[in-house]
Amino acid sequence: MNHRVDTPEQAIDFNNENSNHSPNPTFESVLGARLSRRGLLRGGVGTVGTGLLAGFGVTACGGSDDPAPAEPPAGSKLLGFGAVAKSLADAVAVPAGYTASVLFALGDPLAAGVRAYKNDGTDTDFDKRAGDHHDGMEWFGLGADGKRNDNATERGLLAINHEATTDEKLSSFFLHANGGTSTLPRPAAEVDKETDVHGIAVIEVAKSGGKWAYVPGSALNFRLTSLSPIEIAGPARGSAQLITKYSPTGTMTRGTLNNCGTGKTPWGTFLTGEENWFGYFTRGAADDAARGNDKSVTALKRYGRSQGAASRHGWETGGADDKYQRWNNSKTGTSADGSDDYRNEMNGMGYIVEIDAYDKSRMARKRTALGRFAHESAAFGKVEAGKPLSVYMGDDSRGEYIYKFVSTALWSAADANAADRMAVGDKYLNNGKLYVAKFNNDGTGSWIELSLSNAAISGYANYKFADAADIAINTRLAADAVGATKMDRPEWNAVNPANGEIYFTLTNNSARSVNPGSGQYLPDAANPRAYTDMKGTSAQNGNPNGHLVRMKEGASGSSFTWDVYLFGAEAGADKAMVNISSLTADQDFSSPDGLAFSKATGICWIQTDDGAYTDVTNCMMLAAVPGQVGDGAKKTLSYTKTDGSKLDIVTPVGKAATESTLKRFLVGPKGSEITGVAETPDGKTIFVNIQHPGEATAMANVGDAAKYQSQWPANAGYGAGKRPRSATIVITKNDGGVIGS
Ligand code: FEO
Ligand code: CA
Ligand code: CA
Ligand code: CA
Repeated sequence: MNHRVDTPEQAIDFNNENSNHSPNPTFESVLGARLSRRGLLRGGVGTVGTGLLAGFGVTACGGSDDPAPAEPPAGSKLLGFGAVAKSLADAVAVPAGYTASVLFALGDPLAAGVRAYKNDGTDTDFDKRAGDHHDGMEWFGLGADGKRNDNATERGLLAINHEATTDEKLSSFFLHANGGTSTLPRPAAEVDKETDVHGIAVIEVAKSGGKWAYVPGSALNFRLTSLSPIEIAGPARGSAQLITKYSPTGTMTRGTLNNCGTGKTPWGTFLTGEENWFGYFTRGAADDAARGNDKSVTALKRYGRSQGAASRHGWETGGADDKYQRWNNSKTGTSADGSDDYRNEMNGMGYIVEIDAYDKSRMARKRTALGRFAHESAAFGKVEAGKPLSVYMGDDSRGEYIYKFVSTALWSAADANAADRMAVGDKYLNNGKLYVAKFNNDGTGSWIELSLSNAAISGYANYKFADAADIAINTRLAADAVGATKMDRPEWNAVNPANGEIYFTLTNNSARSVNPGSGQYLPDAANPRAYTDMKGTSAQNGNPNGHLVRMKEGASGSSFTWDVYLFGAEAGADKAMVNISSLTADQDFSSPDGLAFSKATGICWIQTDDGAYTDVTNCMMLAAVPGQVGDGAKKTLSYTKTDGSKLDIVTPVGKAATESTLKRFLVGPKGSEITGVAETPDGKTIFVNIQHPGEATAMANVGDAAKYQSQWPANAGYGAGKRPRSATIVITKNDGGVIGS
């Protein structure tokens, strides 16, 4: 997410919104003992051969019930590198023996004939250039014939999310020569640049002469922007709630927006999650009455758009053209169905979108069966022939939920290499059941189906659900109805290929409190911390440093067990209540966000998007070698409320990390978030995104490079100009070894 640490009002308005006012349980009653944990599972993996997981092939997406090591350990000790120290330098730091190089930065051309990026605010044609705020990313191997090859290690495509753009007072000021227009109306030329830097990019990358580069003129490169035509697929296709002037049949929309986490399907397509899309739309001050105060008003509020809400960039003021007017989500027309305005436009955003990275001629599809919320990553669980596919997902806003989609179709291994990949997506991702997670205080949990057959949903007093499409579009309301567990902002999730367990980052939550006021709620077993952390002289309350939970599916698929894998904290913080995982100076971190397991090594990469510990260190990436659910012990957090009463929270906590199981691998430049990691199948190259370096630069200083918070990557020798740029970097080991060894 866009985390403007020095202008928190931005973050509150357009990211990390707080619309969950449901009375859902948050384990206020968690006071007592919990069931003792079941027997411990297999031991952790501390040493891995480079071919360990190669034998799983496509099924490695979700691992296996019985992942007998394919190869004996090759003696390549994981986490053998020296930890990278915390840093406030304006540079990317990696361990000794590793090299990080800039590969693809904001504005770089990706089509023939596009001039080199000048980086002075005069560039145009952003639909043919790298977008801004590089985020989640996936690798798609290419053979010598330029076609899909899952074994390729030196040529491939990177599919990259371009989540957002560094902004202040409406304008994406680094894109415009003078910083742009910070008042309404916004000039069309500025809006056109800003809409084009959002979306996704697919670029060809190749290694030649030992050096990686992207291929600027590759015919395989393409962009999707916030205006590209995209099909609606799944249960919401054709819904009355998706009728717009652009698509009177409710089957199409334009653009994918605020693309954050990613996924890769077992059949070789790219999944991108639409996260903080609501902030781009405006609503008129009297729109509730214009809508007759119908149920759409309830839905809009639940998704962060009360009437009178301003849009993040004012794109709706770019002109009379439809491509600007579509950002006004008000009822302005007279039709009964919305076919003459954009009152329903926002219902076209908020999905997991499937894209065939190998074939730009195939239109992307919004997979509405996977629900509509502030999507992050989409990670597949165990992929087994003859069984349904599971996809895990989080909703990143304060107090939102964790979800699982289970396909109706049973997996056929032949589909892994089908020629028509989007048709395979139709087969598995258009029909299925959507579940939301309820975490019990005893270390168990249940998946609750979001369906009209559940009386809690069909009879929900706050919102009358009409059909399955209504649940797909208004997923948060359905999850409220069944009493899902409010979490501390679920960001990315990833599935451990060694055992199929599901890891979620819960980045932070300022709404967690032992003495809850309005809009706040008590800590609970799965979100057990509420404390004060000082950032300089500023007190940060709630769960400022975040944590990671992990889940192990039960046999039925309707229940799970869980524990808290790891707590973010400063190394010097109190070990009883804050630094519960006993992190050392080589391990301490705050606000985990990006998350991915290496299929080559089993390393779990943890990336941060922090605003709490940034007085001490820039954001970072850590390498972890986790054990499994239940490998630790339960701990009790004892709180005293202001009225003197006690609140004891008992929670299962994973085995404490050691220097062999958790180590800082990378620290980014000033103002950046580290997000997105992709690897070649041999594990010898990883690609990582550096998002929004210098984002705390004041717009007023846009002409004065000396006042930029960051000058990266120019100060690393990359590209023209000194304005900071989001970028993809490539990391290799100097001895040609496996990353993380
Ligand atoms: Fe875009 Fe919630 O991270
Ligand atoms: Ca993120
Ligand atoms: Ca960010
Ligand atoms: Ca602090």
